[in-house]
Amino acid sequence: MLITYSASSRTFHLAAADVSYVIGLHDKGFPMNLYWGARLTSADLGYLWEDCPLGASFDPQANRYPMEYPTGAWGDHRIPACRIQGAYGDVVTQFLYVSHEILPGKPSLPGLPATYVEDPSEAETLLLNLEDALTGAKVQLSYTIFAATGAIARSVRFENASQEPMRLVEAASASVDLFGTDWELLHLWGGWAIERTPQRLPIPRGETGISSRRGASGHEHNPFAALLRPETTESQGEVYGFSLVYSGSFAIRAGANAYESTRLTLGLNPADFTWLLEPGETFVTPEAVLVYGAQGLNSMSQKFHSLYRSRLCRGVWRDTPRPVLVNNWEATYFGFDEDKLMAIVDRAAEMGIELFVLDDGWFGVRNTDNCSLGDWVVNKKKLPNGLEGLSKKVHAKGLKFGLWFEPEMVSPDSDLYRAHPDWCLHVPGRERTECRQQLILDLSREDVCRYIVDAVSAILSTCGIDYVKWDMNRNFTEAGSALLPPQRQREVSHRYMLGLYRVLEEITSRFPQVLFESCSGGGGRFDPGMLYYMPQTWTSDDTDAMERLKLQYGTSIVYPASSMGAHVSAVPNHQTGRTTSMQTRCDVALGGNYGYELDLSKLSAEDVATAKASIALVKEIRGIVQQGTFTRLVSPFAGNSAAWQFLAPDGSEVVACYFSVLSSPNRSVIRLRLQGLEPQRRYRDLATGRVYDGSVLMGAGLIVPAMQDFSSYVARLRAE
Ligand code: DGJ
Repeated sequence: MLITYSASSRTFHLAAADVSYVIGLHDKGFPMNLYWGARLTSADLGYLWEDCPLGASFDPQANRYPMEYPTGAWGDHRIPACRIQGAYGDVVTQFLYVSHEILPGKPSLPGLPATYVEDPSEAETLLLNLEDALTGAKVQLSYTIFAATGAIARSVRFENASQEPMRLVEAASASVDLFGTDWELLHLWGGWAIERTPQRLPIPRGETGISSRRGASGHEHNPFAALLRPETTESQGEVYGFSLVYSGSFAIRAGANAYESTRLTLGLNPADFTWLLEPGETFVTPEAVLVYGAQGLNSMSQKFHSLYRSRLCRGVWRDTPRPVLVNNWEATYFGFDEDKLMAIVDRAAEMGIELFVLDDGWFGVRNTDNCSLGDWVVNKKKLPNGLEGLSKKVHAKGLKFGLWFEPEMVSPDSDLYRAHPDWCLHVPGRERTECRQQLILDLSREDVCRYIVDAVSAILSTCGIDYVKWDMNRNFTEAGSALLPPQRQREVSHRYMLGLYRVLEEITSRFPQVLFESCSGGGGRFDPGMLYYMPQTWTSDDTDAMERLKLQYGTSIVYPASSMGAHVSAVPNHQTGRTTSMQTRCDVALGGNYGYELDLSKLSAEDVATAKASIALVKEIRGIVQQGTFTRLVSPFAGNSAAWQFLAPDGSEVVACYFSVLSSPNRSVIRLRLQGLEPQRRYRDLATGRVYDGSVLMGAGLIVPAMQDFSSYVARLRAE
């Protein structure tokens, strides 16, 4: 039993793995966030608020209660999770307990991406039913605790049980009040080509936060934050992780107050959201996943990795080794024809590559990025035999064939736009702001969604496509829809996401064998929402190996290696101009879904030999990389080196990777201390034959040979 209710203390105890989460019902009936952290043997925590000293009488008591879902009621002046405008026009609601249910397993969230169970024994769910008597608004708070990790998935369902319309103006997915004010906030900031850079800052007495108002989770901020103790490191100390399973505008807000507590809320961004609820209608928020790590950031990340890899990603590719691919983007950009592509494919076949991906430029008259999005018809000048012809040739060489699409977009210079100028997001009378000379199709409209499903399906069902790269290269500007009435225009941003999720659900379930990879100007929409439909994401357009150390390290704070596209590209690198060796580029790329992004036909014989050996290695270890336990060992943000390791799911092998960014003279020997091994087990280094105890590898460490700038070292140690 993972969830217990004590009628005497009116507490709910959610307990699994090393985690407890306790909800108490206040005498008034509102749920309080009594505890979240290391597992407890008793949830008798009523004393925490009963014995709480009363403060000055001029400040409402509500300001010091730990709230489960704060609405500002009774004078809680901290960050609200929810505000509903009722018939009177005010936004005051007081949600009180009515009933609860405890269910085995986890109900799905219709229309939204979410974590799931395959067997009801994997989790239990608490549904807390609350009601605001005056407005007739009802709220159902849902909490699922997963047995394996103690991760808690939360979402909220609103119902208008009154006779009058009401409007949600703020509807967060979760809120927590942690005791203490000396917390630090970790988040992942970025921009194009520098996505998911970790930043750690003190939580102020006041408010801080991260958000997206882009209509996509975006390059700038990831829908993730963690609260950590100041002393927490990668391998020690407490950490509380918050991840939103959503791909659109979001907000995460946190602040500490005078009463020794810190609140964090996460969910839809109220700046881009209101929702009209007619009598009888319901609204469900996206899911938030809360993960407690007792032993440093790695312990939190490993729980996110295992949950997202196995119970967020779906489909046949979830557990299938991902193919080694070559993508023609940085090899040719728009300047290709069938011969050029086949030269790459021929070399790829010799090297053991398994999938060829044709990127942007195969349709309409798209020879630059200023036209043709929306016209998904092959360009016969470039590909006289059509996609079918090319696909046949690629298959004949023994490779799978993948194709790039950007289905959510339309170029003003396209047949689609000329036929349907009202199909893009726009506000009548205002300039339609173009980015990369393109506009965004209005996926809040059913007819537009249908067009996308039909256009993409027509190609997938006739052209022998095994893989799709689903790109999205700009963010929202004038986010209006031609079909919605004025009182619903602020719903466009979320309705767009619901439309996109419907489209993705339909296409991915219609083509279950196809491997889908999402992309957004690199990693501008790398979030759990997308991973529910597409199990891998292009990490970044920055393909420089040294930059990739940071990108892969930062991304791994939340996301598993099996979700990260990682390619070897040409030198000098197209983004940084840096030259690194083929060996280093390969060793960095093997930490994700490995591939190439360069003109293979131009490689030297020496580079071909290095790449071939690397491809052979990847095929041997990809099960460990993609399904194993990933641990960050040395941070590239802290100095001039980086290291990480992958431990096989059954513990039988460890792959340790060390990278030197800039070397220094006269340096002492580097010892790389591994983690998570069995202390008394013996591990053989496959290169040297030397055998070590696990305790020795973890305590004294592995000697890393002296290294030069931009170099790498990969060790495989197999348990005996
Ligand atoms: C942005 C992607 O991140 C690139 O990999 C490439 O597919 C281009 N779009 C194509 O336009």
